[in-house]
Amino acid sequence: MCGIVGYVGNKRAQDVVIEGLRRLEYRGYDSAGIALVHEGTIEWRKRAGKLANLEKALAEAPLPGASTGIGHTRWATHGAPTDLNAHPHLGNSGRVALVHNGIIENFASLRAEVEAAGDDLLSETDTEIAAHLLESALERCGNLTEAMQQVCQVLEGAFTIVAIDAQDPSRVVAARRNSPLVVGLGEGENFIGSDVAAFIEHTREALELGQDQIVTITRDDVSVIGFDGAPAEGKPYHVDWDLSAAEKDGYDWFMRKEIFEQPRAIGDALLGRHDANGRLQLDEVRISDDDLRQVDKIIIIACGTAFYAGLVAKYAIEHWTRIPCEVELAHEFRYRDPILTRSTLVVAISQSGETADTLMAIRHARQQRSKVLAICNTNGSTIPRESDAVIYTHAGPEIGVASTKGFITQVIAAYLLGLYLAQVKGTSYGEEVAGVVAELRDMPDHVQRILDDADELYALAAELKDTKSVLFLGRHVGFPIALEGALKLKELAYIHAEGFAAGELKHGPIALIEPGMPVFCVLPPRGRDQLHDKMISAIQEIRARGARTIVLAEDDDLEAAAYADTLIKLPRVSTLLQAVPAVVPLQLFACELATLLGHDVDQPRNLAKSVTVE
Ligand code: M6R
Repeated sequence: MCGIVGYVGNKRAQDVVIEGLRRLEYRGYDSAGIALVHEGTIEWRKRAGKLANLEKALAEAPLPGASTGIGHTRWATHGAPTDLNAHPHLGNSGRVALVHNGIIENFASLRAEVEAAGDDLLSETDTEIAAHLLESALERCGNLTEAMQQVCQVLEGAFTIVAIDAQDPSRVVAARRNSPLVVGLGEGENFIGSDVAAFIEHTREALELGQDQIVTITRDDVSVIGFDGAPAEGKPYHVDWDLSAAEKDGYDWFMRKEIFEQPRAIGDALLGRHDANGRLQLDEVRISDDDLRQVDKIIIIACGTAFYAGLVAKYAIEHWTRIPCEVELAHEFRYRDPILTRSTLVVAISQSGETADTLMAIRHARQQRSKVLAICNTNGSTIPRESDAVIYTHAGPEIGVASTKGFITQVIAAYLLGLYLAQVKGTSYGEEVAGVVAELRDMPDHVQRILDDADELYALAAELKDTKSVLFLGRHVGFPIALEGALKLKELAYIHAEGFAAGELKHGPIALIEPGMPVFCVLPPRGRDQLHDKMISAIQEIRARGARTIVLAEDDDLEAAAYADTLIKLPRVSTLLQAVPAVVPLQLFACELATLLGHDVDQPRNLAKSVTVE
C-alpha cells in the first residue's frame, strides 16, 4: 500500500524522490506527490492518478532546486483518489509537510480536536490530521523529531509517517508502527523508503527499524529513538540484489520478466539447503529440532496467492510428515479464536513480509504461545522479524503486482520445510527425502522448457481474447493451481474466472458450462490413487456439455490428447511436485491475455503490491 520516499543529501531532491517513487509505484498508484524544503518554505506538487501525471505537472511547473524532500505514491484508504486527497499534506500554516502509509484508527476524534482548535482541513484523509498535529507540536517544541515523538503517542492504528519542516532543511524525520519503513545509508546523503527499491540505485546498505521507532536522517547522520524518546538502534544489513534486478531488462512488463526468472529463482531457493547426500539443512530455521519434533499440528496462514502456495504445501507436508496441517486465510484465522497450543507450528507465507492481515494473525498466534515460522521473500521485512524462524525464498525483488516467482519459490520453500520436518521426525526415510530433493533440483530445467514454448500459450491467449469467462479445474495439488490460474486471470485481465476442485464440479458449478467455454484442466500424473482417471472423467463431463478443454498433462500422456481441444505439455514429475510446472502456463496465459486487452499488467486496477492495511 502506498510508497514513501525521503531524502537529505547533496543531490537534487526532486530527482531522487521521483526516481524512488517510480520504483515504489507498484505499492500503490492512485495518486502521487512530492514536497521539498526550499528557502524556509515547503514547495509541493501532487496529482491524482499515476506518477506520470505528477511528472507532467512538474514539467509544466518545475519545483526549485532543493536537497531535502519527501514523496508519496498512494493506494487510497481514507478519501477518494483526488488531487486534494493526494499526499503530501501540510499543517495549518504550511510549515510541515507529511506523507503517510497506513490507517490512523482514532482519526475521527483527532479530527474533531483539530477542527475545534480552528484549523482548516482541506482533504478527507486521516493523514492531514497528523500533519496538523505535527505542526502544532513543532510550533510548541521547535524540533521536528521531538514533535514527531509527541504525535506518535496520540496516533492509533498502523502508520509510517515521513515529514519535513520548512524551517529546518537539514533533516527528514520518519516514524513507524505496524507499517514498513527502511533507511538507506549513503555517503553525505541518507534515504527513507517503504522498501529498499526506493534507494537501490544509490546505496545497497540499509537499516532495518523496529516497531514504534522514530528515525531522523541528516546528510551525515542517522539516529533512532523509540516513541518514548529512549535511544534505540536500527539493524544494518546489506541488500543482496542491485539496480538491474529492479529494472525490466528488455521485457514489456516486470511480470513477464519475473515469470521468465523462475528457473533462476527456483535454483536460488534451493541453494545451500542440502548436503551432498540430499540431507536437508535449513540454517535460518531457528527453532530447534527438539521443538520441531514436538509439533503435533501445523496451521498455514497467508492471503491471496500465498494462500494458494499454502494449500499446495498442505498436501506435501501431510504426506511427508503425517502431521495434520490446516491452511487458513490470515484475516479469517485472526478473528475466529483458533485453537493454538505450544505444540502448534504456525507457518506464515508472505512474499512482501508486510501483509497486515498475515502480520496480525502471527501476533495472535505468538500471544497464544505457538511458534511461528515465516516463509518470506523480503529480507528485513516485518513478518520474518516478528516470527520465531524464517525460510527466505530468495526470489529477488518482485515488482509486478501479480505474484509469480514469489509463488513458485513459496511452494519450493514449503516443500523444503515439509521434507525437513519429515527428516527431523523420521517420518520419511532418508532416501525418500533425498529423492524428492533430487527431483526439485531438476525443476529449473523443467520450468525453462515450458518457458521456451511460451509462443503456444501466447497464441492461445490471442484466440481467447474475447472470452468472457474461463474456468480452471484441478485435483490434489492441481486444485490450488486452478485457483491460482483463476486469480491471475481475474486480477490481470479483469475477466470472470473461477477455479474448482474437479470433483466438486458435479455438485453445482457444472451448471456454468456453456458451449465453447474455455476450461483449463490440470491433469495429475498417471499412477497415483486413480487421480488421473478421476480427472479424465471430469474432463469428459464438461466436454459432453460443449466446453473447450485446455488440458495441462505430462508430455508422454498419450491418453490426454483425446480429451483436449488444446494440449499443454508438462514435464513428468511426481504428483506432489506438479504444482511447480503446472502454474507456469497459467501465468504466461494471463500475462499475455491482459497485454492483448491493453491492460497495465504490472499495475492492475484497484490493487497494490503489498497490502499493509487490514
Ligand atoms: O506479500 P504477500 O505474499 O503476503 O501478499 C499476499 C497477497 O496480497 C498477494 O499474493 C496477492 O494476492 C497478489 N496480488 C496475487 O498475485
